[in-house]
Amino acid sequence: MTALADTWGINAAQFWLRGQRPDREVDYDEATGMWEVHGYPEILRALSDPATFSSNTQRMVPEASGFSEGNLTQLDPPDHQKLRKLVSHAFTPKVVADLEPRIAEITVELMDQMEDRAELVADLAYPLPVIVIAELLGVPASDRDKFKRWVDGMFNSTNKISIKERSPEDEAYFASAMEQVGELAHYLTEHVRERRAKPREDLLTKLVEAEVDGVRLTDAEITNFGMVLLVAGHITTTMLLGNTLLCLGAHPDQFAAVRADRSMVPAAIEESLRFLSPFAAVSRVTNEETELGGVRIPADQMLLLWIAAANRDPRQFADPNVFDVTRDPNPQLGFGRGIHFCLGAPLARLEGKVALNLLLDRFPQLRTDPDDAPEFLPSPNMTGVRRLPLLLR
Ligand code: HEM
Repeated sequence: MTALADTWGINAAQFWLRGQRPDREVDYDEATGMWEVHGYPEILRALSDPATFSSNTQRMVPEASGFSEGNLTQLDPPDHQKLRKLVSHAFTPKVVADLEPRIAEITVELMDQMEDRAELVADLAYPLPVIVIAELLGVPASDRDKFKRWVDGMFNSTNKISIKERSPEDEAYFASAMEQVGELAHYLTEHVRERRAKPREDLLTKLVEAEVDGVRLTDAEITNFGMVLLVAGHITTTMLLGNTLLCLGAHPDQFAAVRADRSMVPAAIEESLRFLSPFAAVSRVTNEETELGGVRIPADQMLLLWIAAANRDPRQFADPNVFDVTRDPNPQLGFGRGIHFCLGAPLARLEGKVALNLLLDRFPQLRTDPDDAPEFLPSPNMTGVRRLPLLLR
């Protein structure tokens, strides 16, 4: 049977989506100079031991180090804990729950533009999370074409990342990606400076005013954290929405069951995160020599932890290659695990739930278009549609 991943034309590097397992769960890749980890228990162990498996991977890519200050994803304890505590105030369960009416309002406005057909990503799955995160941060949602240009520029490569010598093509891609990061950083810094002069009721102002142990955040720290939110806060949720509809569309019985019983929507979202994990890999660097899955790894080695592959590990999930919205329990790793567990997970889950419910309410006939195939993002580190044509009536 052809795997759905082949039917959909997902990047061939994602072999786990084709029902295959690696020869070894922990392996060194000569070509990239990195260790590849695909197994569930091995990844769980790495994620739960930040003292050995550091998140400060930018120390291996010195060109990118200008953007590490205040970047939560790159920090280790104790700095990580301090910043995480501070910014968690902006993502309390109440703050997220209070966004529900606004998420619904934006979804309805976007659906009002749809007629008999829709392209889910452009019409809803991209604009919705970007508008939400932009409003939360306090930057104009109308600038979203700019965000899209910058973020697309960061993730457009079809090549695997490497810490070895880069080909001229990789070098050019890296330079252009860094240019996009630079432009986004410049844009956010301007906003941070403005908030220092004129405070507003938004997250950027809260970050400007916040104190960690009597110390305030610098412009660079706020800018880099804002950048993480803007990037992490939208492309991934876009993929989540698209992937969930794609999976349901490919399994009409389960789609009908979810449509009839909306209490199944959250479980369908969890299963979609397992089956097609948007953020396919996270990276870590070894602080010291260690052993993982019976393999010795020296100090200062870069690891790619393929959470998307762990989510298909038969040692953890029965019938891992079967999409099953009734899977319970479903300890999928799509949002990571441990101290860096996705800060935006409650928001992403809420956006997914609200949008899916409203789409199903408004368009009872909604289905994927059999004559117009979906398109996936080209990066091997992402699993998500960038185009998903839908028939609505
Ligand atoms: C489906 C949507 C999303 C997915 C699949 C996702 C995935 C992830 C993953 C796997 C991590 C862990 C990274 C690591 O361990 O190195 C992470 C961290 C993070 N995510 Fe998300 N994310 C999503 C949505 C969001 C949203 C909506 C926001 C913000 C509004 C967000 C903000 C963050 C932040 C700030 C971190 C860093 C947390 C830390 O380092 O302590 N994410 N996300």
